[in-house]
Amino acid sequence: MPNKNFTVIAVDGGAASGKSSTSKIIAERLNLLYVDTGAHYRSIAYVLLRDAIYPEDHKDIVNKIDSYKLGTQLIGRLARLTINGEIIEDSFLRSAQVNQYVSQFSAIPQIREVLLKYQRSLTNYACEHHFRGLIMEGRDIGSIVLPDANFRFFLEADPAMRMHRRKLQGHDDAIQMRDQLDVARKTAPMICPPNAIRINSSELTLEKVVDKMLKIIEVQKDT
Ligand code: C5P
Repeated sequence: MPNKNFTVIAVDGGAASGKSSTSKIIAERLNLLYVDTGAHYRSIAYVLLRDAIYPEDHKDIVNKIDSYKLGTQLIGRLARLTINGEIIEDSFLRSAQVNQYVSQFSAIPQIREVLLKYQRSLTNYACEHHFRGLIMEGRDIGSIVLPDANFRFFLEADPAMRMHRRKLQGHDDAIQMRDQLDVARKTAPMICPPNAIRINSSELTLEKVVDKMLKIIEVQKDT
């Protein structure tokens, strides 16, 4: 079980709001396990699509999801999800087809249930692997997955800025459409969790956002 020096940080926000870039740096600075839950939903979407299963194929999804054995491979500080022992390559996770369907898959309660259990188990995984805590990013981390997190952040940025960032990454991604679906779904919608610190990164460099977050973490830890 985590001890009192173990730090749990939840980072939520819309697509391309800067969650991954900031979380990775903070994980490095504070020796935390880094968990990208968007990659979990993308991995499930990818393996289902590979089997020609689409979001409307409810029965097939429920059957398949129960047959998946989820595991973790540690790559530096990054916890990568494995499905039946397989890690899905980044280029597949970020493909246009996965971008197109991932939010529809992630609205399905049975998929969320399986991933919720897995995601919560990563706190113990971080302890067992001697990290000083974990930083987990997604849409429902501070609200549902880790509601007792020591720190909760909600990152925002103007839509034009977020589109620009995605373009620079070379990805074909309708981020506003995904955000709308993620906010509107019934199960674990994207929200700014209670008491979370909102940071708008539109006018800030990556370093400035990280500095802001680290200052908040340090100040609150000392009080
Ligand atoms: O973070 P990323 O943009 O890679 O997430 C891909 C999709 O996964 C989101 O648009 C959302 O539909 C889903 N997701 C989710 N809950 C999370 C993380 C991601 O529903 N905690």
